[in-house]
Amino acid sequence: MDYTDFSKNVLIWYSLNKRDLPWRYKKNEKKDPYKIWISEVMLQQTTVQTVVPYYKKFIKKWPNIKKLASTNINEVLDFWSGLGYYRRARNLHLTSKIVSEQFDGVFPLKRDEIIKLPGIGEYTASAIRAITKNEKDTVVDANIERVIARIFYLKKPIKEIKKEIKKNAEKLTPELNNGDYIQALMDIGSLICTPKDPLCNICPIKKFCNTKKKNAVNKIPKKIKKINKPIREGIVFWIKNTNNQVLLKRREDNGLLAGMLEFPSYNWSKHRINENDKKILSIKNAKKLKKKVTHEFSHFKLILTIYEKNKFNKSNLDGMWVNISEIKNLGLPTLMKKVYQKVIEK
Ligand code: ADE
Repeated sequence: MDYTDFSKNVLIWYSLNKRDLPWRYKKNEKKDPYKIWISEVMLQQTTVQTVVPYYKKFIKKWPNIKKLASTNINEVLDFWSGLGYYRRARNLHLTSKIVSEQFDGVFPLKRDEIIKLPGIGEYTASAIRAITKNEKDTVVDANIERVIARIFYLKKPIKEIKKEIKKNAEKLTPELNNGDYIQALMDIGSLICTPKDPLCNICPIKKFCNTKKKNAVNKIPKKIKKINKPIREGIVFWIKNTNNQVLLKRREDNGLLAGMLEFPSYNWSKHRINENDKKILSIKNAKKLKKKVTHEFSHFKLILTIYEKNKFNKSNLDGMWVNISEIKNLGLPTLMKKVYQKVIEK
């Protein structure tokens, strides 16, 4: 295969067809690694469509790294509500402090420096370096993996051939314009080389595609059976006082939904519940709601039973009382938004 011809085709296609995304720059515009870093972290586990409005709001709120570093972590966590994988928000904040203090606010782009920053692994470091400076790092995200597997007709499930995919991707990496090149491959993967029924007839790299030659596009990459996630069950309390306020708490600083706001809940994560709370959050005198909340985390499925309570000893409760009408303006994680919704709609 002529590798230069491959990347040339990819880049020409990109110049005409690239998605208009807010973290992308015009030709010759000076690139801000801070913004590229934010976008890449948001895109790690979240779809482009979901990220776009969050990214725009984030940059408006924290236009540079020093602004982010001077913000209280809880504000960043609450902003992140709905994006999931909240560790990313913690790492962003930690990294913003490190860069402000140790690099005078200038985002480091040297490989050995960037890779040490919290929340930046091999993939994100390479993507930031390629997009900001056209460094020749090989970047493979899920979309690019599929494109590469098809171009080279790699028959095993992607999980088993990560190294092989990376090696093949390395061969294709161009000398120039690697930033546009990798984003072009992401766009081709997302718009054309889709998992099911790819649009091969409009594909700019079809002439290089060994899977197309074999007429096997729906067989590559090989699918593996999804294993069902284990189920956990827990309980959550909607505790309402006579002023139409509901009790919210901030979760512990570690573990699942660390530091996020919640309606008091327990039994479903490693967070322990203290003896005092145990007495208060007893299901005695509480009304069980018929409808339960289900939510998928990366490694388990959660079913929460909701208990409503309006008889309790107020002096024993710690947390914050929030007017019901204000709850929707808070940065609740999606799981807790679902609890709110179930209680409101009952
Ligand atoms: N996914 C990860 N990084 C991306 C980017 N820069 N553009 C589009 N999708 C992406």
